[in-house]
Amino acid sequence: MKTYLITGGAGFIGSNFIQYMFNKYKEEIFIINVDKLTYAGNLDNLKKIENLNNYRFFREDICNEKNLDKIFKIYDIDYVVNFAAESHVDRSIEDPSIFVKTNILGTQTLLEITKKYWKTKNGFKEEKKYIQISTDEVYGSLGESGYFTEKTPIDSHSPYSSSKASADLITKAYYDTYKMPINITRCSNNYGPYQFPEKFIPLIISNCINNKQIPVYGNGKNVRDWLYVEDHCVAIDLVINKGIAGQVYNIGGNNEKRNIEIVKYIICALKNKGLNVDEDLIRHVEDRQGHDRRYAIDSTKIKAELGFNTLIDFNKGMLKTIEWYLNNKEWLNKIVNGNYMNYYEKFYSKR
Ligand code: NAD
Ligand code: TYD
Repeated sequence: MKTYLITGGAGFIGSNFIQYMFNKYKEEIFIINVDKLTYAGNLDNLKKIENLNNYRFFREDICNEKNLDKIFKIYDIDYVVNFAAESHVDRSIEDPSIFVKTNILGTQTLLEITKKYWKTKNGFKEEKKYIQISTDEVYGSLGESGYFTEKTPIDSHSPYSSSKASADLITKAYYDTYKMPINITRCSNNYGPYQFPEKFIPLIISNCINNKQIPVYGNGKNVRDWLYVEDHCVAIDLVINKGIAGQVYNIGGNNEKRNIEIVKYIICALKNKGLNVDEDLIRHVEDRQGHDRRYAIDSTKIKAELGFNTLIDFNKGMLKTIEWYLNNKEWLNKIVNGNYMNYYEKFYSKR
């Protein structure tokens, strides 16, 4: 039985990953979830699996070396998957400091503890793997054409992406220096169930449901490459099992959309579901500072070397996502009525 240490497992992608893994491997795996439960961590996301015998949750900060050490002492961990991060670009523009702490120092702390428990006299224990979950945003921004490959130089712009880029480099250093078995995955924008409604797609759905204006930054022509979260989970599982130590793998949806297209698509889909919404909810607001123009991933390497393929196309993924939010209004309202509203008023009233 393999033991996984998942950090940030109460967040959007981490909670989807834990559920994906239990659906796939059932009793064959043991999962330890370490999450600080920041505003973005939500244990409601894990209700379906929280009582499993082969699951443990620890409310812990990845910067806390002493307490991480205790966890490694108790459990013989085979795989570490580091999702834990501050993940919202707009918040990083407001206040970069927590991004540096969690995303850089937290990652280095986790790497160091992992090294301590995996290192042997001559190298590292067999069949161990540390996965750093990174983002395509470390590559910076593209013009009208071209794609990010794993060879594209790092050229991050926002405090968020720069903290992730720094974390990637320190992770790479643990391979280059100690030969610690690591992989770095760089994925494009995810969407799907359990995504916190400060991010673009759930924000649009949430505002439509609550008949609120939809803030579109600038002219709405910025492009993102969207991937359904379950496809990201498939890719991570492949990298854990088949990835070559030290390698970076890009993961993309091959599905570029302008922001304004996404807004119109969701309004139309919700209308078809009987919701009384219209494009007059759209409001163009002041652009994000340093707003990256376009992200687009070339996934040739993970496809050719690890056999990755996306299973859920955009129409199917969006339908699943929209239906999930419509069927889980209680989940959404709990967030929208809580602290998130304070942030929302503070942030958008200035625009
Ligand atoms: P999220 O903000 O929804 O979740 C982050 C989780 O990390 C939360 O549960 C939070 O409580 C936890 N966390 C934060 N600081 C912590 C700390 N110091 N110690 C322990 N736990 C802490 O983020 P997400 O969208 O699920 O993203 C997960 C990872 O994937 C991040 O590393 C992000 O950079 C990366 N990523 C996200 C996307 C995307 O589109 N969402 C795309 C590519 C990569
Ligand atoms: P976001 O979900 O924050 O992801 P990222 O910036 O990490 O790609 O934003 C996706 C795109 O949507 C990005 O170009 C910014 C834009 N956006 C808006 O236009 N309005 C909004 O209210 C938000 C949150 C994002």
